[in-house]
Amino acid sequence: TNRSLARPTDDAPHVDSAQLLSVLAEISRIGARTGAGITRTGLGPEEAQARAYLAERYRREGLAARTDPAGNLIVRRREADPAKPVLLLGSHVDTVVHGGRLDGTYGVVAACEVVRVLARQGMESAYEPVAVAFSNEEGARFPYPFFGSLGLTGQLDIACATTMTDRDGTALSTALRAAGGDLDMIEAAAWPDGSIAGYLELHIEQGPVLEDRNIPIGVVEAITGRTIIDITVQGVQGHAGTTPMSLRRDALVAAAQVVLAVQRLATTRGLCAVSTVGCLDGEPNVTNVIPGMVRLTAEIRDGRAERLRAAERALVAELSALGSATGTRIDMDLRPVTRPTQTDHRLREAVATAADDLGLTHLEMFSGAGHDAQIVARSAPIGMVFVPSRGGISHAPQEHTDDDLLVAGADTLLHAALRLVTE
Ligand code: GLV
Ligand code: MN
Ligand code: MN
Ligand code: MN
Repeated sequence: TNRSLARPTDDAPHVDSAQLLSVLAEISRIGARTGAGITRTGLGPEEAQARAYLAERYRREGLAARTDPAGNLIVRRREADPAKPVLLLGSHVDTVVHGGRLDGTYGVVAACEVVRVLARQGMESAYEPVAVAFSNEEGARFPYPFFGSLGLTGQLDIACATTMTDRDGTALSTALRAAGGDLDMIEAAAWPDGSIAGYLELHIEQGPVLEDRNIPIGVVEAITGRTIIDITVQGVQGHAGTTPMSLRRDALVAAAQVVLAVQRLATTRGLCAVSTVGCLDGEPNVTNVIPGMVRLTAEIRDGRAERLRAAERALVAELSALGSATGTRIDMDLRPVTRPTQTDHRLREAVATAADDLGLTHLEMFSGAGHDAQIVARSAPIGMVFVPSRGGISHAPQEHTDDDLLVAGADTLLHAALRLVTE
């Protein structure tokens, strides 16, 4: 490629690129599975280990690090005035199952690095830069995505969290406690209104746009909305040899049609941007038994709230008809997880100007992935910085961004933060 990412030779501050990359390399060992990427699911021991590693690492740099009752790691200057409004920088350190090393974690490590550099500068600022690693952003094990950012902004549904278990029946509250949090104290994780002056999140793009156009920095304009739909198909379990085809109520055959109905929402029907069934579980899941029950989880996404609502309504209608047509009972539980979210004009400008200062080209773009920034947006203005993803691949072990681009993104975060804290 012909991109030129030479760092300016002036005395403008920079992140310590060697440290950024070595911390990322170290943390990538936590939850790594040989040949199968990283599994560091939220509210589990590996996520806690990643937090502990960062806390230890940045305490050695003279910063204060603590885990709050929601399992969020918070890193800031020791001498910081607790009353000063905060410029919050962060992302998450949990992963999906067999995920990559950069989704979330890159933004957290860069945020810690930026707070360290700003602390070293020791300048007077209107806002206190603070780094955060939000817990359970993905919801891969406990299906409560954005758990940490919801906790920090006082938006958690405590009743829902209290009854939630993983697939093995372990309670969320038990896992959270083992990971250093405490559901009984969860209200104490919520920051007071007005304490966050702004939130900036650096993240890999997780799509192909920046790489395709050979642009190092994405300035996010808006983030997709997302609805998760838990679906249960109840049929009649029976003998695969003796039950005539005409008398079957096969839950898996009905579920197969559910999968295609979900796909059509975004394809032939064009009602939403994307639609996916990522998760399917049948019972009893045995070769010579007609499946009696199937559970699926679908999700649909779009940048416009009214389109998302329309796609939800269309799915409800279609699945109800499918239940009748297949003689099964189809129940669905819709969970609007995030609304489409705009970033703040002033934070976008700070990111774009930072990129300009560093001689980095940038592109305003949309995010089809969800981010903690969307949750924080209900409490404070947000901004996001993207760097390219090789092949556009993410939520997979092959996730990769070249080191020079990782450093460029972290420097952009630093310069944007510098502008915002002193403004
Ligand atoms: C968040 O990781 C998402 O699934 O978009
Ligand atoms: Mn993710
Ligand atoms: Mn992420
Ligand atoms: Mn510009």
